[in-house]
Amino acid sequence: MQSTIGLSATVQHYLDLEEKYGAHNYHPLPVVLERGEGVFVWDVEGKRYYDFLSGYSAVNQGHCHQKIVEAFIRQSRKLTLTSRAFHSDKLGEYAVFITRYFGYDKVLPMNTGVEAVETAIKLCRKWAYEVKGVPDGKAQIVVCEGNFHGRTTGVISFSTDPSSSTHFGPYLPGFIRIPYNDAAALEKVLRENEHVAGFLVEPIQGEAGVVVPDDGYLTRTKQLCAEANVLFIADEIQTGLARTGKLLACDHENIRPDILILGKALSGGMLPVSAVLADDSIMLTIKPGEHGSTYGGNPLACQTAITSLEVLKDEQMAENATAMGKLLREGLESLQSRHIETVRGKGLLNAIVISHAHADAAWDLCLQLKENGLLAKPTHGDKIRFAPPLIINKEQVEECVDIIGKSLTCLD
Ligand SMILES: Cc1ncc(COP(=O)(O)O)c(C=O)c1O
Repeated sequence: MQSTIGLSATVQHYLDLEEKYGAHNYHPLPVVLERGEGVFVWDVEGKRYYDFLSGYSAVNQGHCHQKIVEAFIRQSRKLTLTSRAFHSDKLGEYAVFITRYFGYDKVLPMNTGVEAVETAIKLCRKWAYEVKGVPDGKAQIVVCEGNFHGRTTGVISFSTDPSSSTHFGPYLPGFIRIPYNDAAALEKVLRENEHVAGFLVEPIQGEAGVVVPDDGYLTRTKQLCAEANVLFIADEIQTGLARTGKLLACDHENIRPDILILGKALSGGMLPVSAVLADDSIMLTIKPGEHGSTYGGNPLACQTAITSLEVLKDEQMAENATAMGKLLREGLESLQSRHIETVRGKGLLNAIVISHAHADAAWDLCLQLKENGLLAKPTHGDKIRFAPPLIINKEQVEECVDIIGKSLTCLD
């Protein structure tokens, strides 16, 4: 059980409820939130915080964005779920909208991010057998060390994080792991394995601690895939939707994935909405009855996603992410703190690596940040992600840098 010294009786009450009646599969900061608006969230005692996690980048558009909330409420009063046994007036409208928005022939709608990853894996395998001509059961998908693509038994089978996979086996075969940011490793694997169907990659590894690959890595790996007739599959669930300063992180290198996976901010934090986009030669390998989901493509999700995507462009959130991200990284560097080993990131997907004062330094800093009105969470021990909603402005970034600077003294 975590140390909860100094917490009020009200906060302790909510913590106790989760501790006693909820599974212990998370280790949250001891803060209990009840309201959110824009870049801010408020706890049950009315204290305001900057949200520097944004629901793991699901709330890029800001908490409770008025237009998204209104679209959600309007649609929820009309029709929420038909299942895919029947058509709805919203699915077709959404399919046109999102395929034009990202420039693909077709979309396959799902709910959570990991379901979309699973969908992409199935689609890639199907394409390998039915188009590429890989012998049945032999398809391999190349993945990267340090990956995070979700939590299903299939996806954790190729995780390299022991806490994701230990004692959840047996694991699904058919994956080859290579180091991240190493195009030569991909080249070697493609040369040595004739049955590779796809290369699944995060354009920036988010959960691993915002690991940004070298310039040219995506271009080179995409080229290698094209030469080997292997599908380049980009998991943009965390990096997509303006987070890194472009609509997609792949846009920084003008790379067009063969299969694009989206989730999180596709609904602006309203409900789980994910999507897989691809062209007909790939997407049409899946036939009626071969894949699906009760909630996938429901009218409420479709309308919410349309509005969430409209808002991103209308409010120029990618441009703001570029400008504010630069300001944030410059501000963090200017602190010249001996406790910060590295500042890295792109747009508003950033992280600091804490110098090893002691094992819990990143956690202790997050507790201090909370005291000072900013919420962030350590990832993989010594890294803290700084990813506020994309609507943050200059004054707010400056105030946050001050808060971070002040809080770092707790590690002195
Ligand atoms: C890159 C990436 N892929 C997949 C997922 C899984 O998404 P979900 O938690 O919605 O299943 C995440 C979640 O953090 C992610 O960051």
